[in-house]
Amino acid sequence: MPERADRLRDALLAADFTADGLLELLGAPAYAALARSETVPALRATRADGPLATLVRLFLLQRPVPRERARAVLPLDEALADGWVAEDGDRIRATVDVRPYGGPEGQDWFIVSDLGCAVGGAAGASGRGEGVVLGVGGASTTLAGITVRTPVASALDLGTGSGIQALHAAQHATRVTATDLNPRALRFARLTLALSGAPEADLRTGSLFEPVASETYDLIVSNPPFVISPGARLTYRDGGMGGDDLCRSLVQQAGDRLNAGGFAQFLANWQHVEGEDWQERVRSWVPRGCDAWIVQREVQDVTQYAELWLRDAGDHRDDPERYADRYEAWLDEFERRGTKAVGFGWITLRKSGAEDPSVVIEEWPHPVEQPLGEAVRAHFARQDYLRTRDDAALLADHFVLAPEVMQEQVGLPGAEDPEHVVLRQNRGMRRATKVDAVGAGFAGVCDGTLSAGRILDAIAQLMGEDPVMLRDRTPRAIRLLVEEGFLEPATGA
Ligand SMILES: C[S@@+](CC[C@H](N)C(=O)[O-])C[C@H]1O[C@@H](n2cnc3c(N)ncnc32)[C@H](O)[C@@H]1O
Repeated sequence: MPERADRLRDALLAADFTADGLLELLGAPAYAALARSETVPALRATRADGPLATLVRLFLLQRPVPRERARAVLPLDEALADGWVAEDGDRIRATVDVRPYGGPEGQDWFIVSDLGCAVGGAAGASGRGEGVVLGVGGASTTLAGITVRTPVASALDLGTGSGIQALHAAQHATRVTATDLNPRALRFARLTLALSGAPEADLRTGSLFEPVASETYDLIVSNPPFVISPGARLTYRDGGMGGDDLCRSLVQQAGDRLNAGGFAQFLANWQHVEGEDWQERVRSWVPRGCDAWIVQREVQDVTQYAELWLRDAGDHRDDPERYADRYEAWLDEFERRGTKAVGFGWITLRKSGAEDPSVVIEEWPHPVEQPLGEAVRAHFARQDYLRTRDDAALLADHFVLAPEVMQEQVGLPGAEDPEHVVLRQNRGMRRATKVDAVGAGFAGVCDGTLSAGRILDAIAQLMGEDPVMLRDRTPRAIRLLVEEGFLEPATGA
């Protein structure tokens, strides 16, 4: 079986069925249209014969191709026997979507999913039933981007679907376990890994942590079925537990499945409930012994949320009365639960074993620079560093300004002094923070040469301030600048 996948992979590569090859054949507009699930421009671009055009028509555009043309590009008998293609009269049609996917280092990978839903939700596959297996969507690439990519011995991808997270994990984890409630998904994940030249993963069927109940991992990732819906309908998104219970269970149970120092990273949705602070809600999910960083990226009111997922399932193309009934069902469910809105975001846990864990919960809806895995790792390293430093220790340490931090002065044109000064990161989270004259001066001097205390003494002298007072009141601001990644300890946190 692995040799058969190798032969299929070789055939795909020989035809240049890669992200670059597609771009060249289709041209940028048709390529981009395909990513929006629009197939007409790509159909026009593949009218001429050729091995690549045959594969694009077969696997991406779901058009049957003449048997002899399929035989010229594929190990046809094996692909037929394995069920990846099927006979359709004297033509051959694909039974799955196989889509080139460029890895982070330019690798030529392939993602296998159900036909018609490789990009942008299942709307194209509506009516396919609850077990539809999705390809790569925005959520998949977001999670892949924020995942910490430190080399590890073991990784778990929970709810693997097409296998995309397992494929990424296979690049830096010695052993990868991938689970899914849906056995069809595991069949697809196996082919995704094999076609992409990744080692086989340990594939297990089952719900949440059940299939790995006695094991622990260095890295756990999950893009779970996080949608808060009125009932289980589509396995890839409706978890079948009430409200945000599936995300809560995942996060709560992850602590016991992590090795010391290990990371668990999730995409999640959480309810904003009348009379309750959303931050307190998600804080209560964090398991004991784990540090956490929870970022709310977006909030949608219940109508926006219901419409998003109704469209995702293609319900807007259905009979208007059924659409209205379904819409009502979503709103009824939210009303019953006192839900006013839903938050979307990222949850990262790190098993620190700390008695007083660092739990940072924030709202950051602004653009970020993906991949963020290194920024996530560094966030926790900085928390470790700050945990060990009281104010005196902080003043004795040396700091450097993080790369690509710029200063912006904001105020009325022509005014002598700016109204405020902002430090802005051009990398990672792309944070911005207001600083006063001392903060700006301090950050500007931080090149690791002088200790923080010595810098403050010099600033006090320049500004005619009392150095003792300055040493007294500044550590809080320094702590914040370090916590948010504007300053880095010169010793290397
Ligand atoms: C949103 S898809 C994510 C697929 C893929 N990991 C990605 O990032 O694109 C969620 C996956 O979780 C699976 N799933 C649903 N309920 C589950 C459960 N209770 N336990 C484990 N997996 C589940 C679905 O079958 C689906 O493959």
